[in-house]
Amino acid sequence: MEISVTVNGRTYQHDVPPRLLLVHYLREQLNLTGAHVGCDTSQCGACVVHVNGQSVKSCTMLAVQADGCEVTTIEGLATDGTYHPMQQGFWEMHGLQCGFCTPGMIMSASALLQSNANPSEAEIRHALEGNLCRCTGYENIVRAVQYAAGQMQGQAQGNGQTAMHEQAKPETPETAAELEHPQREGGRPEEPETVEDWQSENAGVSDDAPAKPEARLNTGEGGL
Ligand code: FES
Ligand code: FES
Repeated sequence: MEISVTVNGRTYQHDVPPRLLLVHYLREQLNLTGAHVGCDTSQCGACVVHVNGQSVKSCTMLAVQADGCEVTTIEGLATDGTYHPMQQGFWEMHGLQCGFCTPGMIMSASALLQSNANPSEAEIRHALEGNLCRCTGYENIVRAVQYAAGQMQGQAQGNGQTAMHEQAKPETPETAAELEHPQREGGRPEEPETVEDWQSENAGVSDDAPAKPEARLNTGEGGL
């Protein structure tokens, strides 16, 4: 059957078998392999795409049913080389491990934010019930959606959360000496203290100062 379908802004005409599923049309005919096939029971949600703005499991829809429709896949979510906030959220909040479920998660979650810009955690979890992840335990996925919601509402780093890669980034050394010895102030090692210096500085100053080893042995105080 002849179909005309607009996918990620580009219109395609194809003669397709009536029983061809949309997910197979996308993957095999258009080579858009971001929509995954993770089950044969329509449970996993790895195949979710948007059809006329609604999130749809593309394994539950025939390609011929998409005739005349606008389809968006994960490949069409970024604009002008800039990630969609939901893609950014999964990156920032480490919402993925193997990544197999990620395209479907992102498509379902981005559809949620189109209808509910500020979902509660319960609403996020409810919206993602049709998407199964085998890896991440969902916590970071929820955070990724919250991050995207914050970004889309113009709240930089919603809830004061800091990007993980920002947290992990070491400080840039400022001087050549720091570069050489980044752990040492001024790049120079501290002068080692002598035992005599330490004893004279600390004598009688603090009760915590350790006694000489001989004294401990003699008195039995502070021994092991
Ligand atoms: S492949 Fe569509 S729900 Fe699993
Ligand atoms: S990240 Fe591996 S299945 Fe979800």
